[in-house]
Amino acid sequence: MSRRRQIYEGKAKILYEGPEPGTLIQYFKDDATAFNAQKKGTINGKGVLNNRISEHVFTLLGNIGVPTHFIRRLNMREQLIRQVEIVPLEVIVRNVAAGGLSKRLGIEEGTQLPRTLIEYCLKDDALGDPLVTEEHIACFGWANPEEMHDIADMAIRVNDFLSGLFAGIGIRLVDFKLEFGRIWDGDYSRIILADEISPDNCRLWDAATGEKLDKDRFRRDLGGEVEAYQEVARRLGLLPAEGADTTVLDMETHRKKRDK
Ligand code: C5P
Repeated sequence: MSRRRQIYEGKAKILYEGPEPGTLIQYFKDDATAFNAQKKGTINGKGVLNNRISEHVFTLLGNIGVPTHFIRRLNMREQLIRQVEIVPLEVIVRNVAAGGLSKRLGIEEGTQLPRTLIEYCLKDDALGDPLVTEEHIACFGWANPEEMHDIADMAIRVNDFLSGLFAGIGIRLVDFKLEFGRIWDGDYSRIILADEISPDNCRLWDAATGEKLDKDRFRRDLGGEVEAYQEVARRLGLLPAEGADTTVLDMETHRKKRDK
């Protein structure tokens, strides 16, 4: 038996060579980092939850016609995806002021923005993912104007859809980060949605109480990370209702024993 080839290891995920050309396997780790990896930790079961939540969200987005890299979930921690040439931008969509925006511009956290705001950061850990403008993107050729048009268009579609999805389960979608990639077909390429959508890269606040149900629990040492991620999964209908005697870790242990 030969060991599968690791293509890339990120802070929360590992990419392995896929079973067919043009595919990869995306493995979700329990590792958590914040503030450009200055803070590191482990959230037990996070990878399982994010794999499941991201599968669900990408499937729903695919159903409304947003092209994504997601093919199918393979097991508790892995999904099969299309290999893309990643666009080196973090696309941040904001509905409510929080985090970096509040700090940068002195806007109180929780302030509803008068319109949806899209920001771009260069994906570069060494530089701390600096905020860039479309002028920088065009100047340095990180994406061409047509690609930027498609990216902004998809970001707004994703935001409209997810804002409604989360509102329906009592969650306020404050902001989130997307990543996009290019798929080549001969000389032509098109942009598709890549990476993941989970409480790791969204701010999700309980609509009634304002309680944080996302990675800010880790970033801000609030505790209860797994419970918050589980609550999101539960409200999305991906976990048994509260009170049911099964945790995601029980499910993973059970599956491992069964598959031995
Ligand atoms: O920190 P900031 O306020 O700029 O983050 C905005 C949104 O983008 C948050 O939902 C955060 O989780 C996400 N984000 C991310 N990865 C980064 C930076 C931000 O997922 N490197």
